[in-house]
Amino acid sequence: KQATLHLDASFVLSSVDKRIYGSFIEHLGRAVYEGIYDPGNTLSDEAGLRQDVVKLVRELGVPVVRYPGGNFVSGYRWEDGVGPKSERPVRPELAWNVIETNEFGLNEFAQWAKQADTEVMMAVNLGTRGPEDAKNLLEYTNFKGGTYYSDLRRKHGVEEPHNIKLWCLGNEMDGPWQMGHKTAYEYGRTAAETGRIMKMLDPSIELVACGSSNIDMPTFAYWEDTMLEQCYDQVDYVSLHQYYSNADNKTSDFLAGSVGMDRFISSVTAICDCVKAKKRSNKTINLSFDEWNVWFHSNAADAALERWQKAPHQLEDIYTFEDALLVGSLLITLLRHADRVKVACLAQLVNVIAPIMTSKTGAWRQTIFYPFYYASRYARGEVLNTLVQSPVYDSRYGDAPFLDAVAVKDDEAEALTILAVNKSLDDSLTFTCDLRQFAGYAVTEQIALEHDDLKAVNTEEQPDCVSPRTVRTASISDGRLEVVMEQHSFQMIRLE
Ligand code: AHR
Repeated sequence: KQATLHLDASFVLSSVDKRIYGSFIEHLGRAVYEGIYDPGNTLSDEAGLRQDVVKLVRELGVPVVRYPGGNFVSGYRWEDGVGPKSERPVRPELAWNVIETNEFGLNEFAQWAKQADTEVMMAVNLGTRGPEDAKNLLEYTNFKGGTYYSDLRRKHGVEEPHNIKLWCLGNEMDGPWQMGHKTAYEYGRTAAETGRIMKMLDPSIELVACGSSNIDMPTFAYWEDTMLEQCYDQVDYVSLHQYYSNADNKTSDFLAGSVGMDRFISSVTAICDCVKAKKRSNKTINLSFDEWNVWFHSNAADAALERWQKAPHQLEDIYTFEDALLVGSLLITLLRHADRVKVACLAQLVNVIAPIMTSKTGAWRQTIFYPFYYASRYARGEVLNTLVQSPVYDSRYGDAPFLDAVAVKDDEAEALTILAVNKSLDDSLTFTCDLRQFAGYAVTEQIALEHDDLKAVNTEEQPDCVSPRTVRTASISDGRLEVVMEQHSFQMIRLE
């Protein structure tokens, strides 16, 4: 198959907000307990933080991590997780039907975030709680001292404020499964008042309002429009969540999921701008795609799980090679919308639908680790408006291009990075790109993620079954780049 990329060095879509490479840790399954926190394990430090996991998170390059939920946050009392561990209450956790010991909480997470070289994105409980508790939490995290909650933090051994800048006003409040689920109007009012009070206390923070839990929600679009009418002036971002499934084993449809993501982003952008027009506002609301990933492999096991266990194996999807291809394609889609998507969180980070898995004896990279790694490490700078001319195939989303691609230039490093996915299941694909504006640039790295078996996985015993390798199928002649991609493959091409 043949395709063409068209670039213009001055046709910049947007700079990449590094928070587009965010991720997510929820109190769920073994994400916290046995994931990032495993006291007594020789792989952990004296605070119980798994050092092998910290190393992999740093390697992955995750500038922001959302915490503590997810559905969990809608029933969470943050005070349960601070102060002396022996006094912390053990509670039934109703989002995931487990026991929460509260051994790990906000201060431990902030300590972990420092080690992992990442910022905290904090969610407040707007399910069973509201503005008062959100204000108290913000006072605890961001106020210097001399007030009740800031002094409580100091009493808990944390002298300096955490200074958390990015806050989620609840989680998936449109979902009937959510504790304290609300109508769009109820949520919009609560978000407006909570946001207003939080910004009175700390005007430097940014706020994310809950959008729809996925594009198939019956209230999708109505929800965004109605709740934004109420809280437009108080919030900075609207959230989007979407998980992708290949439960029916139709890989070409599955790989077309990026077309669905593209449509979702364009729709929410349009609604934000519609409310902007209705309000005659100068303010633009951007997007926080703060839950996205493949999620379906673990559904059956989770349905059979016994209730009220502590940190059971939950949502432990073992990712295949084809999942990594879709993750690569979704990253390309997020970057192609970098003018409006400023934050995005791969959900999640460790053990729970995650790129990193742990056992008592080690940690390893799942297949989806690699496209994320190459995007986060190399696709920084400015996204170029990348026109892709590619043959298409028919999918459940309509036409889906075989080639997904985006180019990101980094003027400081004098580099150009192209990320590409060939979705053809039986043909190689060659794409060309006129690079005369990038005179003197040569291909310095070309990495491919390829495998004959779409269902291949990485395990603790075979951690490198699906892993990237250097290839040499890119060439430049007369200012024209030509790249050959194997059938169903991902590539990162670096030019400097
Ligand atoms: O990431 C797992 C769950 O998916 C989150 O708790 C929730 O927000 C979403 O439905």
